[in-house]
Amino acid sequence: MEWLSCSKLLAFVALICIIPVISSSSDRLFGAYAWRRGDNENVGVIRVNMTRRSEREAVLNFSERLQSAVYRSKRRVRKIEGFVKQQVTKSKSQSQSIHELDPETPVQVGDGEFLMKVAVGTPPVNFEAIVDTGSDLIWTQCKPCEDCFNQPTPMFDPSKSSTYSTIPCTDSLCDALGDTQTGCNPGCSFLYQYGDGSFTSGVLSSETLSIGSGSKVAGIGFGCGHDNEGQGFSQGGGLVGLGRGALSLISQLGSKVDNKFSYCLLSITDSSSQTSPLFFGQGASLSGGAKSIPLIKSSVIPTFWYIPITGITLDGKPVDIPAGTFDLQSDGSGGMIIDSGTTVTILDEAAYSPLKDAIQSAIDLTPADGSSVGLDLCYQTSGKVSLPSLTFNFKGGVDYELPADNFFIQVSSDLLCLAMLGEPSGNIPSIFGNIQQQNFHILYNDAQNTLSFKPTKCDSL
Ligand SMILES: *[C@@H]1O[C@H](CO)[C@@H](O)[C@H](O)[C@H]1NC(C)=O
Ligand SMILES: *[C@@H]1O[C@H](CO)[C@@H](O)[C@H](O)[C@H]1NC(C)=O
Repeated sequence: MEWLSCSKLLAFVALICIIPVISSSSDRLFGAYAWRRGDNENVGVIRVNMTRRSEREAVLNFSERLQSAVYRSKRRVRKIEGFVKQQVTKSKSQSQSIHELDPETPVQVGDGEFLMKVAVGTPPVNFEAIVDTGSDLIWTQCKPCEDCFNQPTPMFDPSKSSTYSTIPCTDSLCDALGDTQTGCNPGCSFLYQYGDGSFTSGVLSSETLSIGSGSKVAGIGFGCGHDNEGQGFSQGGGLVGLGRGALSLISQLGSKVDNKFSYCLLSITDSSSQTSPLFFGQGASLSGGAKSIPLIKSSVIPTFWYIPITGITLDGKPVDIPAGTFDLQSDGSGGMIIDSGTTVTILDEAAYSPLKDAIQSAIDLTPADGSSVGLDLCYQTSGKVSLPSLTFNFKGGVDYELPADNFFIQVSSDLLCLAMLGEPSGNIPSIFGNIQQQNFHILYNDAQNTLSFKPTKCDSL
């Protein structure tokens, strides 16, 4: 059509008509890379069965598995602290236009408590990935390996896949790497460091991803890691970022999955043979009776899913938490995030301390030492104790009522512990952890900017 109308005009006008034709198919300009985003066709229902990472530690008994999950939570909190500190410092130095950036290389969160199967390439190569709602990049180890950790499944070899291509540095996905982009030769290179000596480094690439029962999605940007280190990753071959930033799986799937996903986490005490469902797109829906709260987006830390907590209620009485304790600050500090990768809820000390006091007054027992499992408030009891009711209050008067199992955990036959910890007030956001989310179907809707939840027996989904 454009050609027809143009052909009737003078030559120089025709030239002007050609320009939009070329730029509208900018893919072809980068033909050397054969990189192309997938189409926007809706993929329908995708279901993925996630396994709890601690369940792999089959030789351990429950209290030992809990102990290692609590240990990982604490390590994750330090990673989140490092990540937040950096972003806050950066946002402050930008607003004050001073140049005293943290000289340390950027660290990411990149860890998690659940694993999912994913396959990359054509023909598909399966691997187990850590699911992380606290970081964005999707990555796997790639051949040829400069240095790789042992993974349980064969490593992905890009040269054997017909759908592999690298992503040009001019692409917005490469821009989204920010400080983690290390160069442009060969291709858009990245280095993701996780602050505990583990890292992945390689080339940002595009591939067909297969997730769930055979759903294939073309043109997903991922990190092809040729140099990787990290004991923490060795249960799988990489990671799937489910944060809110541009590089995450949910952001890249975008309108193909109606910009939403949901999960329903089984209890940490459930048997290892059971899995927790993760849904994308049309499968991510809650039937009647769900409650919704607005999500908050931070321009400083676009990766995190912030939720608008307003207070905590114990036995119907508001806990005496100073006003503003949970506010997300404009410099990126504070707030509360929801995270599947932190096992116990982490509260700013200004909230934790009065909550702990209130719980102690409500329970007629002398606290016991919980240091064996890394928890703070414990009681020597077989659990036959009447527990107070606990509710997290959110913006708009929406209450998240925690069943007893979602905040007190029977560590061993005679030790009952609060599945929450305090953190000194400062840069770290409070974190709504995964024990608190278990047996709730939780829906992250990025398009509507809402988080919805509904008590659900997850093994019935
Ligand atoms: C996930 O688990 C459900 C319920 O156990 C099962 O019906 C389904 O086949 C599983 N799906 C996949 C992709 O493994
Ligand atoms: C778990 O195993 C450890 C180490 O073997 C042992 O000390 C502990 O008593 C066990 N806990 C339970 C609840 O069986």
